[in-house]
Amino acid sequence: MSNIVIVGAQWGDEGKGKIIDILSKDADYVVRYQGGNNAGHTVVVGTEEIILHLIPSGILHKNKVCIIGNGVVIDPEALLVEIEYVKSKKIDINSNLRISEEAHVIFPYHKVLDKLREEKFSQTKIGTTGRGIGPCYTDKFARNGIRIVDILNKRIFKQKLKSNLEEKNAIFIKVYKAKRFSFDKIYSEYLKYAQIIKPYVCNSSVLLNDAIKNKKNILFEGAQGTLLDVDHGTYPFVTSSNSTAGGACAGTGVGPTHIDKVIGVVKAYTTRVGEGPFPTEFSSQLMKKIRSRGKEFGATTGRPRRCGWFDAVIVKHAVRVNGLEAIAVTKLDVLDMMPTLKVCVAYRYKAAIYKDFPADIEALWKAQPVYEEMPGWMEDTTAVKDYSQLPLNARKYLKKLEALVGAKIEIVSIGSERNQTLFV
Ligand code: GDP
Ligand code: IMO
Ligand code: MG
Repeated sequence: MSNIVIVGAQWGDEGKGKIIDILSKDADYVVRYQGGNNAGHTVVVGTEEIILHLIPSGILHKNKVCIIGNGVVIDPEALLVEIEYVKSKKIDINSNLRISEEAHVIFPYHKVLDKLREEKFSQTKIGTTGRGIGPCYTDKFARNGIRIVDILNKRIFKQKLKSNLEEKNAIFIKVYKAKRFSFDKIYSEYLKYAQIIKPYVCNSSVLLNDAIKNKKNILFEGAQGTLLDVDHGTYPFVTSSNSTAGGACAGTGVGPTHIDKVIGVVKAYTTRVGEGPFPTEFSSQLMKKIRSRGKEFGATTGRPRRCGWFDAVIVKHAVRVNGLEAIAVTKLDVLDMMPTLKVCVAYRYKAAIYKDFPADIEALWKAQPVYEEMPGWMEDTTAVKDYSQLPLNARKYLKKLEALVGAKIEIVSIGSERNQTLFV
């Protein structure tokens, strides 16, 4: 092992949690670098399913330092609920969890603004998770944000919260005809959170760079996916952070020279939650079938996920923008009973053929997928123990994906459990 970034190569929910959990065995540190509790990362251990939103998925292994990096936005209320949830699983969190002092804090007004914006501008709504992620990052980049270190300093916190509320309350009242927020209530509530969070707070850049000097292994846990990245995704139908591999450096304070490898996690088909273009989306019958076989319901909001054929155009884009050398293909088992499979190799829009992902949102909305068809394998793969035992057509399907996207498949997942993982 070395220092590895794990990123989602589609629209999120690729199974990053499972892959992080598997690779955590050989890691010393696992660090989240962007996003917030919009993420829902599932790890299945035996009969138990554990869903993590903010705490890195390495927490289920003993003695792994799990860091919430500076690039993450933290809702303290959600964090405390999650800490208690993890503790209730008899997991030692106190000695393993660390939180960057530079991470930005989500406030109640961010969550309300997130929902109000979606309601007011419903024509262009994004279908956010409603967790206040976008408004919190907006404040960060507008330089009004309030960080963990700020809520630990009463005087600074008071100043910053006062000036934020002055502006925000005017917006709530004038633009949204909504209620104003009380300074006293938020101030006292967040000072309490600050005291509970304080023992976990650290300088994550120093911690990680010391670990690198000591030849420790670090896993960088991406949230969301490449097509939800604010720069490289289906803008504006994206999240508000850099979920691509580059975000790992900015979001942790580790330089790019220390990253050894980037692995993309890819579902054997495609899903997306929320609004936005999705060229290979299934028709309703196939949608129902795959949604039910793949249990495609959001781990954070419970919303049904939209499902579609594997789209090599978007994954090839993910390979390029993340510099992926390797990929992990998950949920192959969900396709077990499909007689034929389609793979999108290009888009057709007007008279042109697009082999590279187009940035023009109109081209994406109207893109006609160009498919290649392959025979399915019509066999249960969930008990396969070795890659060579996979049905021939399943291996052919994987080889096809590998050739189309230009990265090597190193891991194949055929079920949510730890032992349903094949190393190629
Ligand atoms: P993440 O956000 O990328 O971590 O993915 P989610 O946890 O939101 O969604 C992935 C879902 O697929 C979870 O319910 C996992 O338990 C499940 N899963 C992961 N890998 C496999 C697999 O190979 N096969 C099946 N059937 N389910 C899987
Ligand atoms: P994980 O880490 C799938 C989607 C939302 C919406 C858009 C913006 O589990 O893969 P936001 O609340 O971030 O402002 O919403 O992004 N989205 C996700 N979709 N998996 C996720 O995380 C997601 N996090 C956000 O549905 O379309
Ligand atoms: Mg998820």
